[in-house]
Amino acid sequence: MERIILRLIDGQIFSETYSECFKKYDAILELYIDPVDGEAIITSVFTHPRFRNRGYATLLMRTAILLAEERDCKWVTLTDSSDTGELYVKLGFEYINYPQPEMIKYIR
Ligand SMILES: CC(C)(COP(=O)(O)OP(=O)(O)OC[C@H]1O[C@@H](n2cnc3c(N)ncnc32)[C@H](O)[C@@H]1OP(=O)(O)O)[C@@H](O)C(=O)NCCC(=O)NCCS
Repeated sequence: MERIILRLIDGQIFSETYSECFKKYDAILELYIDPVDGEAIITSVFTHPRFRNRGYATLLMRTAILLAEERDCKWVTLTDSSDTGELYVKLGFEYINYPQPEMIKYIR
């Protein structure tokens, strides 16, 4: 599946595929904050294969959790779409409805 990121800057649209992003970034995390429900949602975590197992995903995850805390979120959710659960469990996430892949980390 091809993933494309669109950006609108001063009326001009810029599009970038994920692989193009990786020419600039070593790892990417997408975080959505829902201030009404006090929920933070991590929709993707990806480390370029060349940079894996160096703690980059962990660093981005910890930063995302801090940003969610700063914005008074009650929890952070994610879907463990590729059996990466162990990585998230180490960061304090738990399965909501195992064996469904939805995971949560309570902040407050
Ligand atoms: C999963 C992924 C983001 C991990 O990135 P990374 O930068 O290599 O992760 P880290 O270096 O921070 O690894 C942290 C820990 O998780 C473990 N880990 C890494 N990838 C893992 C995997 N696929 N399954 C289980 N554990 C994994 C590491 O062994 C490490 O453990 P340690 O702290 O005991 O040494 C990366 O493998 C990736 O981009 N995979 C493809 C996309 C993907 O599957 N994204 C997740 C969708 S939910």
